[in-house]
Amino acid sequence: MAQTSIDTIFGKMALDNGLCTDEELKKCLERLKAREAENTPTNLAQVMLELGVLTRSQAERLRTNLRETKAGTANPTGAGPGVGHQIPGYQIMGKLGAGAMAIVYKARQVSLDRTVAIKILPKKFSENPDYVERFYKEGRAAAKLNHNNIVQAVDVGEAAGHHYFVMEYVEGKTIYDDLAAGKVCKEKDALEIVIQVANALAHAHAKGLIHRDVKPKNVMINAAGVVKLADMGLAREMTDIKAAQTEAGRAYGTPYYIAPEQIRGEVDIDGRADIYALGATFYHMVTGRVPFEAANPSDVMRKHLKEPLIPPDHINTSLSAGVSEVVETMMAKNKADRYQNIDELLKDLNSVRNGEVPLVARKKFQIESLEQLEKGAAIESTSNTKTYTEEAILKYRIGILGLGALSMVLIVIIIFMISRS
Ligand SMILES: Nc1ncnc2c1ncn2[C@@H]1O[C@H](COP(=O)(O)OP(=O)(O)OP(=O)(O)O)[C@@H](O)[C@H]1O
Ligand SMILES: [Mg+2]
Repeated sequence: MAQTSIDTIFGKMALDNGLCTDEELKKCLERLKAREAENTPTNLAQVMLELGVLTRSQAERLRTNLRETKAGTANPTGAGPGVGHQIPGYQIMGKLGAGAMAIVYKARQVSLDRTVAIKILPKKFSENPDYVERFYKEGRAAAKLNHNNIVQAVDVGEAAGHHYFVMEYVEGKTIYDDLAAGKVCKEKDALEIVIQVANALAHAHAKGLIHRDVKPKNVMINAAGVVKLADMGLAREMTDIKAAQTEAGRAYGTPYYIAPEQIRGEVDIDGRADIYALGATFYHMVTGRVPFEAANPSDVMRKHLKEPLIPPDHINTSLSAGVSEVVETMMAKNKADRYQNIDELLKDLNSVRNGEVPLVARKKFQIESLEQLEKGAAIESTSNTKTYTEEAILKYRIGILGLGALSMVLIVIIIFMISRS
């Protein structure tokens, strides 16, 4: 079977969803043609699977999407989400980008005649009532936030079975765009960005909202250089982590910035998880490397849990010791060893910006060393006790043996004397 219109749409959907590159699609289409010539016809989805361009579940998701398209509930062309014309009050203008879980569109909010961004979630989210409930709850909470460094939430809703999130449109780029282009941020510039994100988080945390997914892709900078933290309130589910583990990171971004307690699936996640993720983002910005790299998401997560962090100034030797200490404190594996809140963090960030010592981090390092010293002393004292006890037992044994020998000699003498008399 030659390339059909279904194959064309399937290929376009794979591209639009960021699941393959132009190059990969071209290669797959060539292979499809070759199979036709070899008289072993197949379809594009199958070829993409065979060449390892798509995983089985990615191909399955695209097929489902395709079926929905044929049923008239989705639009794969990328010009609009299909449901676009049906989101009351908004006109879709075009696609802004696609993440692993959703597509973001530029749109016009008719009532206020302004440009907004609309994130449309895949249908599978509607299948989980807990997630939907939380999506709305957090969406409402995010809409209450108002901060210059947070992408303003505008609306949440549902159209044709798709849940959507309307937000402020940011004309600019994400930090990820620069990092992906191989740019290493200057310490000074990175500090300015991290301080703005920290201010955004301080505002959110004060209102009881934890971000849970701070990462370079969610930090945008607009044309005026103002940093905007995106996806505030779009709770990232633990199911994402499970998906990341099984999908080998292709469709679900590898968890390079996630806090250890989130990996462990702890339920009482607090602001310190955001501090860790911002620390990992900071690390990437100033070193050009993610803190923990591995061949698959599970190994990355294992390293977050177990592997000691290479201090950022060991990688980029031009970094100040102060910045390095701040990043290391932000990324302490145990949340009790991190900055306990954003105020503490901002104190140190501002000190380093002013060329001063990060006092909060220093104090934490000192306490840690003291604790280690104490632990060492305790080990020494227990080992002393042990030596002392062992010596006493030895002396006791020698004493008993001596007494035993003496009694034997006495008994022999007595027997000898009795036998003589
Ligand atoms: N408010 C916005 N204004 C303008 N563009 C945006 C906005 N929000 C997101 N985008 C663009 O849409 C892209 C996709 O965003 P989305 O949040 O779906 O995924 P992501 O954060 O890039 O990655 P992931 O799915 O791994 O979390 C972003 O990379 C960004 O380029
Ligand atoms: Mg995002």
